[in-house]
Amino acid sequence: MRKSEVSETLHGLAIKKGDQILIPLYALHRNSLYWDAPDCFNPSRFDGKTRINKYAYLPFGGGKRICIGASFAQMQAQIQLATLLSRFRFSLVEGRTPQPSLSFSLISRNGIHLKAEKIIG
Ligand code: HEM
Repeated sequence: MRKSEVSETLHGLAIKKGDQILIPLYALHRNSLYWDAPDCFNPSRFDGKTRINKYAYLPFGGGKRICIGASFAQMQAQIQLATLLSRFRFSLVEGRTPQPSLSFSLISRNGIHLKAEKIIG
């Protein structure tokens, strides 16, 4: 959410001073103008080899108030995922496919139920 400090016109849309503006991240992160196959789970799009428009990817916000924990959180996520994925193989529990729901952030309305099998060796 942002509150406009000035009256402005953006792409023909009049915005008055004080208006609340919501940037729809779910739509932005799946916009085919910015992403190839936006609905595909394709982690390699973040491998550093593909150029990403930094304002098309805002999980940590952007501009002056960008999350100060972004690098820390991403490093933690990579370490945790690498640790778990080297030890367990995860699969969906039949009949309990996560149902995406847009809350303050994107969540699953029925939880995320996974079967974890220990990788031997
Ligand atoms: C996956 C983890 C995280 C996500 C998705 C996340 C996301 C966000 C988002 C969307 C904002 C608002 C940015 C904006 O308005 O432009 C924010 C702000 C902030 N985050 Fe995070 N965050 C995460 C982890 C962390 C961690 C680990 C810390 C601290 C170590 C942290 C500290 C902050 C602070 C202090 C702000 C306020 C910055 C400001 O208003 O100047 N966050 N975060």
